[in-house]
Amino acid sequence: MEKIGGGRTSELFGGFVTFLRKCLFKVISVGPIPNHIAFIMDGNRRYAKKKNSATVTGHRAGYSSLMSLLTYCYELGVTYVTVYAFSIDNFRRSPDEVKYLMDLMLEKIEGLLKQGNIINQYGIKVHFIGNLKLLSEPVRLAAEKAMKATANNKKAVLLVCVAYTSYDEIVHAVQDSCKSKRKEIQMLPGSLVRRGASEGFREHEKINDLAIHDIQESCKDRLHGSEARHLLEGSFENSSADVATKTPNGLIEEVEGCEMQRKVPSIELADVEEHMYMAVAPDPDILIRSSGETRLSNFLLWQTTTCPLYSPAALWPELGLWHLVWAVLNFQRSYRYLETKRKKMRED
Ligand code: FPP
Ligand code: MG
Repeated sequence: MEKIGGGRTSELFGGFVTFLRKCLFKVISVGPIPNHIAFIMDGNRRYAKKKNSATVTGHRAGYSSLMSLLTYCYELGVTYVTVYAFSIDNFRRSPDEVKYLMDLMLEKIEGLLKQGNIINQYGIKVHFIGNLKLLSEPVRLAAEKAMKATANNKKAVLLVCVAYTSYDEIVHAVQDSCKSKRKEIQMLPGSLVRRGASEGFREHEKINDLAIHDIQESCKDRLHGSEARHLLEGSFENSSADVATKTPNGLIEEVEGCEMQRKVPSIELADVEEHMYMAVAPDPDILIRSSGETRLSNFLLWQTTTCPLYSPAALWPELGLWHLVWAVLNFQRSYRYLETKRKKMRED
């Protein structure tokens, strides 16, 4: 009976605390609220050590802290939250710790799919960001299942970076940009791409899977005199008519006059950005790293050029409401300055 009474009291107290927190958030919301907050969770093992308990306890406490902070963020009206849960470098930790973290991840991802949790409560769409091929199959499948199950959620977004580093993300984005550029070029009817005028026509590599040599040969029959010489010697700097159309089976279908349409394939900034894993979210407005560390540890290097870093001394499992509130107040204080900077960067 006493237990029931105690339970009721703590329920009432919990309700009152939530009410106070929501009042506080209402006041804070008078100012601008960050659209995207990113967290580097750091200090779980130090926390465990401080408490004289096993490392794994630190990671479990870290997960609880993450759930509280997510709740606060979404209550406050933040739309995107990104967390650095496991970097590619973390695979170098002891096999036991890696296994423990993967098991924890699997358990928690499966938990996220159950009814009555934070995902359903706030209508969160979950993205797992990183080189997911590096994960064990059960974790990867669970992550894919969670993304599929939450794909239609619209109110908020959670990005969990696993098997992630910025270097890997950037390399992957450049590689994918090249692949899609190549595809784009192949789709262009009648366009022939050259590497550069100075390299000479004969030296060009096979582009569009169409050997330049084949075109030269096809053109030879149709061109005469100096026109042919120009083409074969690569002096078509500014001509623009179609030269050939490649059919799906790789043959030249049509050669009209054999003048060259030059199109130099180049990878632009926008191409790379489009292929980032993080392209599903705007850049973060605040980056918070616990444990007083100010290193970025290969996290969102591309996306944080104008993003302030807040690094409270608290270890990750100790991070709480007041750290978040302080970070948001600081963001509000520098909001105008940061907006001007961002605007300027977009214009440049
Ligand atoms: C950093 O502390 C924490 C990690 C590397 C792991 C964090 C992962 C979780 C809490 C699980 C998240 C799961 C989901 C599904 C989101 P540290 O180990 O670097 O501690 P230290 O800095 O004291 O050594
Ligand atoms: Mg650490």
